[in-house]
Amino acid sequence: MEANPPKRKETRKSLRVKVISMGNAEVGKSCIIKRYCEKRFVSKYLATIGIDYGVTKVQVRDREIKVNIFDMAGHPFFYEVRNEFYKDTQGVILVYDVGQKESFDALDTWLAEMKQELGPHGNMQNIVFVVCANKIDSTKHRSVDESEGRLWAESRGFLYFETSAQTGEGINEMFQTFYSAIIDLCDNGGKRPSSSMGVGFTKEQADAIRRIRNSKDSWDMLGVKPGATRDEVNKAYRKLAVLLHPDKCVAPGSEDAFKAVVNARTALLKNIK
Ligand code: GTP
Ligand code: MG
Repeated sequence: MEANPPKRKETRKSLRVKVISMGNAEVGKSCIIKRYCEKRFVSKYLATIGIDYGVTKVQVRDREIKVNIFDMAGHPFFYEVRNEFYKDTQGVILVYDVGQKESFDALDTWLAEMKQELGPHGNMQNIVFVVCANKIDSTKHRSVDESEGRLWAESRGFLYFETSAQTGEGINEMFQTFYSAIIDLCDNGGKRPSSSMGVGFTKEQADAIRRIRNSKDSWDMLGVKPGATRDEVNKAYRKLAVLLHPDKCVAPGSEDAFKAVVNARTALLKNIK
């Protein structure tokens, strides 16, 4: 009888990954990385010049990963420096300041810059993106609320976290989930697993919520022309109500959007004969 061969201890190869930070100047990219890697916070603003590079080893689940972090400068002045660092990236930390709406609005421009630099063969689908809504500790007026940020992120299949580099809130959780998703991506042959793509709501629902949020009056909210008839208002209302009813729609912000639509219809019908 053949003897059993000695069991070899399973050692999983440690992974090497490349992560970059993106977002407007002064939103807190460097501070988020510093808070995680060095457990400290610097309140004085020291703008990143071009790129800061660092390597860190982290243990996530049963895996050790070696992370090369490229912390980008957000200032437009450094575009020429950062544009060559987009390629071969597995993870992106996309940051905005919750007290600064322009930094949230700029997220699309950051994605466009990356897409352009990756060129026609670059695949943004197979990169893990985590959106950090940063500076939640700040006493300054918050101009982007959680549901708006979460909707933007989750409708694109991105992770979303509320963070404060100052207090540390959300930072460890964000990095652990981010790295864990990167491991899943690497284990899946460099492709984002399809399970992580399902967001539980449709693009039509996300677009409707965004449109309602940005509407200028009740007519605009229901998507009807000023002076529309009762029938037209009711028809538009019913369509949105079916799309956004809280029992049917799990998209962030759907409950508020639904309430806003109900109120808009009530207000309009009061004044239509
Ligand atoms: P660039 O390198 O110029 O692109 O900026 P950055 O995004 O790296 O910003 P940085 O991390 O240097 O932070 C900018 C300023 O915001 C600094 O004064 C930080 O102290 C402050 N800051 C960063 N994170 C937080 C936070 O969570 N809360 C508060 N209150 N301030 C923060
Ligand atoms: Mg920086």
